Amino acid sequence: MEIDMNGVIFALSYALDKVESELIGVSVDHAKWVAYMSVLTGKTYDMSFEQLSDLASCAAMHDNALTQYNAGGRDRGLDPSVFGLHCTIGQDNIADFPFYGDVDGFITYHHENVDGTGLFHKRDDEVPLAAKIIHLADMVDVTCNVKDVSAGNYKSILNYLNSNTGLMFPRELVHHFLTKFTEDFYLSLKGRSINDLLSEELPHNLREYPFDQIRKVMNVFGQIVDYKSSFTRSHSFSVAEKVTKMARFYGYDESTVERMYIAGVLHDIGKMAVSNDILEKPAKLSKTEFAYMQTHAWYTYVILSQINGFEDITEWASLHHEKLNGSGYPFGKTGKDLSEKDRLVACVDIYQALSEDRPYKKGMDHAKCMSIMRDMASRGLIDARITEDIDKKL
Ligand SMILES: [Fe+2]
Ligand SMILES: [Fe+2]
Ligand SMILES: [Fe+2]
Ligand SMILES: [Fe+2]
Repeated sequence: MEIDMNGVIFALSYALDKVESELIGVSVDHAKWVAYMSVLTGKTYDMSFEQLSDLASCAAMHDNALTQYNAGGRDRGLDPSVFGLHCTIGQDNIADFPFYGDVDGFITYHHENVDGTGLFHKRDDEVPLAAKIIHLADMVDVTCNVKDVSAGNYKSILNYLNSNTGLMFPRELVHHFLTKFTEDFYLSLKGRSINDLLSEELPHNLREYPFDQIRKVMNVFGQIVDYKSSFTRSHSFSVAEKVTKMARFYGYDESTVERMYIAGVLHDIGKMAVSNDILEKPAKLSKTEFAYMQTHAWYTYVILSQINGFEDITEWASLHHEKLNGSGYPFGKTGKDLSEKDRLVACVDIYQALSEDRPYKKGMDHAKCMSIMRDMASRGLIDARITEDIDKKL
């Protein structure tokens, strides 16, 4: 399948920002700004396109393991004795991503200080340059909110760097960063969209990847979503597997089956934008809370629609809570607007959700799931034929 892997990673990083912002209050597009500043800095070291591309992906993914770090609603905060876990898990998560080169340590060491006081107390020469660049870009944005472009903020960035040169960041790296990041350059970013800035520095690169490799990348994001709540530990992955099984049963061609797998594994990516107070609530949600929960399908649409070439996947994934009679969300579509593939993802999601334990209910066996789904079909909510096929196949 041909995709722009960095484009996919940048789009999905929106979901990671939501988690990082719950934990440490970073602003919108944090991951993209970290990637952007990293690429600019990487260029001052004459990195090749391939090196810049790997640097940008790792920069956008630097905090990908925060949901696993805080798994099960265990809010560990920033306790330095365990915070390093988000670095090692984060590096493991990207082990199977299709990088151009070796990215060992890029994420593991994104919190190392040059004076050895970082999470793993590494010496400067033990930390890859890319990890040092990501560390600087991350901390500059966390501390100064780079997107808030003004002369005053440039002064804050300079002050922050000056007072941490030789402590957190190597002198020579700060120098490289500032050769590009001059005041004039910084002020020229005002009002620019981060997506445009990123694509100017790192052009979109469509490449052909074996589906197996794409699946591994998508599974990482599915897992990040599932770890957001302790009650959905394998939901995304199970929906993807069952959607694939049904898609094969309907005789779709292999490329469609693969694309439907991606829709299945990413259908709830918008849950990253929903607070854990709602996802983990051990009781039925109030009306307002339920309305808030419903926004996850809208966020799935927002996130996936940023990816070029994902138009069909975006549709199948984000319509999974629509109902044939128009009572679903986020768009309130009716049967005439819902294709067989839209309906299939919706039915499989319901089947999977019914069969899983939730804070307020135990998972149901196949017969009970089918009786609830048949009742929904008879009330004009979901597709009756697909429901019967699920009974035969799952
Ligand atoms: Fe981090
Ligand atoms: Fe960060
Ligand atoms: Fe959902
Ligand atoms: Fe779901």
